[in-house]
Amino acid sequence: MDVTPPPVSAVLADMTSPSCCLPDRRRKLLLRDRPYRRLLPSEPRWERIPKAVQEAITRLVCGQARWPLYLWGDTGVGKTWAAWWVVERVREYCAVTLERLADHVYERGAWYWRRLADRTLELAVIDEIGLRTETTDREYLALKRAADLLEWRPTIWISNLAPEELRAAYDDRIFSRLCCGVICQATGPDQRFSGRAMPCSRANAGVAAEPAPGNEHIGAGGVVYR
Ligand SMILES: Nc1ncnc2c1ncn2[C@@H]1O[C@H](COP(=O)(O)OP(=O)(O)OP(=O)(O)O)[C@@H](O)[C@H]1O
Ligand SMILES: [Mg+2]
Repeated sequence: MDVTPPPVSAVLADMTSPSCCLPDRRRKLLLRDRPYRRLLPSEPRWERIPKAVQEAITRLVCGQARWPLYLWGDTGVGKTWAAWWVVERVREYCAVTLERLADHVYERGAWYWRRLADRTLELAVIDEIGLRTETTDREYLALKRAADLLEWRPTIWISNLAPEELRAAYDDRIFSRLCCGVICQATGPDQRFSGRAMPCSRANAGVAAEPAPGNEHIGAGGVVYR
């Protein structure tokens, strides 16, 4: 058998030919118009997804932008529910918190790890990244392993950490893996308070909000409910 490698010039010529398509992380996602399943207590509504997130999701599922999606923002703006809106519309998904993956990081046969490695998986969602200020070895290992398994596949990473905070909390290797596609900041009010009062969030830090009737300020801009 001839095992002589082709000349370098031939390989380079092949790589620059128009038919050579390097993977660029674009992958269309076929979404069903109606949910396959109900996973949350009520239905995630498209119109309640922050505008920037709607745009990011639309571009990604249409193959106009590169996966993965790093979705970050203040608490309660609707990051998790936006991801579940997509999850409900794909057939094969795996949605899990980083904490759960870290719990099973040393069990190679654990269901979540087998699921993330499954080639039929269409979408993975890894939520609650950077929950604690201190990153444990297990959490780091779980995140790194998940990112390596999911490279090239549609994935939504969800965190309260801005990209630079993610880099500081973990390192360049994690930052590179999670933020190499679309980075989207979800902004807006804390939807858990919907209409009840001005939330206390980073987006509103320093803003002197008038407390809603029946509420009063505590500390630096917090609101106490009575
Ligand atoms: N698209 C939506 N449709 C309907 N309700 C929503 C939607 N988005 C958010 N909500 C409501 O707002 C609440 C908070 O949303 P969500 O859990 O997605 O916030 P989050 O940004 O993930 O917050 P955290 O950073 O604390 O995890 C949900 O429990 C739900 O009641
Ligand atoms: Mg969430």
